[in-house]
Formats: sequence, C-alpha cells, structure tokens
Amino acid sequence: MNQPSKEKANNWDTTTYDEGHSFVFEFGEGVVDLLEPEAGEQIIDLGCGTGHLSHRIADAGANVIGLDASEEMITKARETYPECDFVHADARDFSFAEPFDSVFSNAALHWIPEQDAVLESITNVLQPNGQFVAELGGIGNIASIVETVQDVAAERGYEVKSPWYFPTVGEYTTKLEAHGFEVRYATLFDRPTELDGGTDGLSSWLRMFGDSLLAPIPDEEQQGIISTVEDRLRGRQFIDGTWVADYRRLRIVAVYMAE
Ligand code: BEZ
Repeated sequence: MNQPSKEKANNWDTTTYDEGHSFVFEFGEGVVDLLEPEAGEQIIDLGCGTGHLSHRIADAGANVIGLDASEEMITKARETYPECDFVHADARDFSFAEPFDSVFSNAALHWIPEQDAVLESITNVLQPNGQFVAELGGIGNIASIVETVQDVAAERGYEVKSPWYFPTVGEYTTKLEAHGFEVRYATLFDRPTELDGGTDGLSSWLRMFGDSLLAPIPDEEQQGIISTVEDRLRGRQFIDGTWVADYRRLRIVAVYMAE
C-alpha cells in the first residue's frame, strides 16, 4: 500500500508489480487460509494492491471490499476484477456505514508508521467479535538490505532512514490489546524470499519498492549505490542465480472485543 503523505511516495508500476513481484500475493494465500472466509461474510482487504487476494477471498462467497491508498493499484484491481468492489482510501482514516466481520491485510501495514491510526480505523469498522487477520514485515525484516543501503549511502554522504514499520510480536500485540483486541495468534518467522529477475532481482526489487528508502539519494547516484549494495550482498544472498531477500513475517489473528 502506498501512502499519499510520504515525502517521496512510491509510484507503482502495476504491471511490473504483478509480473515481476508476484510472490507478494502468492505468499499471501497462506494468510487467506488463516482468515477462513465464509460465504456471506463482509470483509475488508486492507492494502489490496492489484486485488488478487480480494478476489481469492470473494471466491469463498464473502463480500469483499479491497481498499488501497494507491490510485494505480485500485485502477488495475478494478480492471482485472470488475466483479469485485475496490475503494481508493487511506488505511489511517477510512470508515463505512455497515460493520464488517473481518479485516484482512497482507504485506501492506509495514508501509504505515502511524499504526495506531490504522488500528483505530479498523476497530471503527469491525463489529464486536470481528476478526483482524494480517501479515506484515516483522522486526528484522529485510535488515541486510536496509542496513547495506544505509551503509553505502552514508559512505557517500547521504543519511537513509528506513521508511517501514517492522514491529516485534510484543510491540504489536500490546498495541492490539490497547485497541480492544484479544490476540488469538501471533508469530514471527523467517521467510527467505526468492526475488524474480535473476541477476537483476535485487535492483528490480529496490526499484519497485525502494522509492522512499532511496529518496535522500539523488537519482543520478542511485544506480551506483545499488550496484555497490549488490556487490556487498552477493556472497550471502545471491544463491544459484537468484537473489534471496531476508524477509521476516509477523502474522496476527486478533478478535475485536470492543473497548
Ligand atoms: C515486505 O513485504 O516485507 C516489504 C516489501 C517492500 C518493502 C518493504 C517490505
């Protein structure tokens, strides 16, 4: 999910996203399994991207609204799945008149540091006993990539800060409880993730997702920095012709008890 207020927001190329980074929603199928959607349920897919998982959830007979802050993503989702509902909205500030049975989110929430505002919006739309099922990057997610970009940029005089929110289990479950949730399941696990694109996998990942990470670096210097990052990580993370990113996932199932 792209947030409009970021200083330099990602501009999503939805075709490259779908064709070159399909692992994002393919891994999300496991999160849909945790959701266990049922026919007739009202479900929000928060940070729906190009809508593939919203469609998967709708296949179970649920009524799904996919919500994303990127207009490009919503346009592509509507084109691909005209039978589904998609709404352009900000996860930090959305509301609907009718209550929902579940809010689902895959690989989106780590784009939003203002997580209390997100949880506030979620509790405003969930009915009591409604569930929140999510996967996001957890503490240490892509740490080698972020730290190496920071090191190489610093050597050239640029200060790069991580734009992402990768919480610990304790931090996130405490937040959930403060917002009236009972946490039924929370786990943090390593998921080394093969990037598409062979030798270009890491640079294409950084080009797709790293706009806000690379924002302090002038455009003409970015490629040089990316090449040095590749040189430093190649020995550990380029395995049999494929770049492997050090993803760590936080999975959550929580029930809204109302405050
Ligand atoms: C992730 O899915 O963990 C992720 C993707 C892009 C940027 C940062 C994290």
